[in-house]
Amino acid sequence: MSPFLLTRTLPEDATEAALRADVQRGLTGTPKTLPPKWFYDAHGSELFERITELPEYYPTRAEREILLARSTAIAAATGARTLVELGSGSSEKTRHLIDAMTGLHTYVPVDVSESALTQAGQALIAERPALSVHALIADFTADLELPDTPGPRLVAFLGGTIGNLLPAERAEFLASLRALLAPGDALLLGTDLVKDERVLVRAYDDAAGVTAAFDKNVLTVVNRELGADFDPDAFDHVALWDAGNEWIEMRLRSLADQTVKVPSLDLAVHFAAGEEMRTEVSAKFRKEGVRAELAAAGLDLSHWWTDDEGRFALSLSTAR
Ligand SMILES: C[S@@+](CC[C@H](N)C(=O)[O-])C[C@H]1O[C@@H](n2cnc3c(N)ncnc32)[C@H](O)[C@@H]1O
Repeated sequence: MSPFLLTRTLPEDATEAALRADVQRGLTGTPKTLPPKWFYDAHGSELFERITELPEYYPTRAEREILLARSTAIAAATGARTLVELGSGSSEKTRHLIDAMTGLHTYVPVDVSESALTQAGQALIAERPALSVHALIADFTADLELPDTPGPRLVAFLGGTIGNLLPAERAEFLASLRALLAPGDALLLGTDLVKDERVLVRAYDDAAGVTAAFDKNVLTVVNRELGADFDPDAFDHVALWDAGNEWIEMRLRSLADQTVKVPSLDLAVHFAAGEEMRTEVSAKFRKEGVRAELAAAGLDLSHWWTDDEGRFALSLSTAR
């Protein structure tokens, strides 16, 4: 069997320190917020996989359609020997790309979810004995250090996850990513596109309530890790389209006047009835905006592919 390495780039307690800092900042700010990366404990990662199968959640199917049609072209255009994937999750769609990359030496999935990395990595090496997999438990918004593997490199950032970063965070993220690449290395970026508001809102507020359970999972994570006493049933899941910013927001709306205690931060946080806490932003994009954001970071857009219905785009850009 081929090698499977799992490396934690952060000290064990860094995750807890980062969670504490984020919760402290988010629950004492106005409006209250929690960053989306804390959705993804093992249960959150499982819930996300269920979301990808929902009839309302078109992005995964649309992006898979593009990967099926374009993976050979992507492999030929990049000639990459290392594929790094940020926020790789189950690596499910990435298999199409891996199979097309005939010269691929090492796959480097990067995620905060250890359970997702272990499951995906073990499955991949069992299915593809010639592939070397070096998984990284890491936060792609923090200082990322990539293993020393053969170039050229292709970095894939799929699923529209870049939309979870606010515009200033995206600029910082893309600039740091560019700094990790050598000239000629490439970025394959999945971006969900601006479209009819009803289609967008449905994708984040499904009839079966899976996205609501995913949204509330962040409260369970804060309860477990920081001893808080959030009652997930005392909050409603809300998804809304912000037309000015062209992003979807997921929020948790307090159903009552209530105080939540977070003992390990020595915090008592008051929620008014109807008060909403932001848990995720999911920006939607247009081609010229993506091109401009990439260019500002030193990445030149060379290809732009969409699914047949024009809902989702994959772009390929090259480091200058
Ligand atoms: C929207 S899901 C997409 C998963 C997969 N790429 C797909 O397209 O289906 C986001 C993934 O990114 C991971 N993630 C979120 N924030 C992260 C961060 N700051 N650093 C590393 N991984 C992160 C999550 O654990 C999750 O697996």
